[in-house]
Amino acid sequence: MTSVPATDVHVLDRTVDELLDASGLVDSMRSEIAAGAVYVVPSGIDRALLVELRAYLTRVGQSSLPSYHRIEVGAPNSHRMNDGDERSYVRGRFHQFSFYPWNQDLFGLFDLLGPAYRVKNLLSGLPPASFLGRMPEQGCTARISVQFYPRGGGGLNRHTDPVDRHQLTVPTLELSHRGDDYATGGIYVIRADGSTLDVQEHLDVGDVLFFNAATPHGVATIDHADALAWHRFEGRWIALLAVNKLQSTADIGDSVDLG
Ligand SMILES: [Fe+2]
Repeated sequence: MTSVPATDVHVLDRTVDELLDASGLVDSMRSEIAAGAVYVVPSGIDRALLVELRAYLTRVGQSSLPSYHRIEVGAPNSHRMNDGDERSYVRGRFHQFSFYPWNQDLFGLFDLLGPAYRVKNLLSGLPPASFLGRMPEQGCTARISVQFYPRGGGGLNRHTDPVDRHQLTVPTLELSHRGDDYATGGIYVIRADGSTLDVQEHLDVGDVLFFNAATPHGVATIDHADALAWHRFEGRWIALLAVNKLQSTADIGDSVDLG
């Protein structure tokens, strides 16, 4: 898979919901994203609800034991710590909460994030409801992965994610804000000349970020000078709107760690 360098960042006024009725705009976004453009789109989700979600997951993370489960049909919702886990394709340090469409969850996350998922599918040239049912399609399933990057070391190596029949872009919903919840680090993409484009500066709580999954990107270390304290759940929070291949699906590539 060839990587696609980032070009520029577009910050839209229109919300994710409004994009669902703007097929011309979605078409132009699709070709721009294929060529390396980055889009920031407000989700329109109530900020207070997202802060509540964060508080809820903090309580879950602090009061239940982390455990690892593979991505397969019937997998439970669960959370785990990833501290350089060799089972992951990309090295990182973050706490991850996984939600599947076949499980119940208190916040109804697949309903809440449904519009953003449908935009992801449209941008990927797919029917809007793809992968959101209770059963996998084409060997893939939607999975919401809420990721918490702790201050004092949270981050993710530079990498690319697979672009294939299942997706062009892997949207993320921002659940925290640099300047309030942490001071340094965050999401970046790489331009053709190898320079870093700091995308984080354009993002606030509730914004959805869309870019080409094949654009090299990573998470610069969150507050690297601070002491690491996983249990406090202070740092950067996002919800990743993933569509993942099942363990048994061999014909879609893996994410590639670029170090
Ligand atoms: Fe990624």
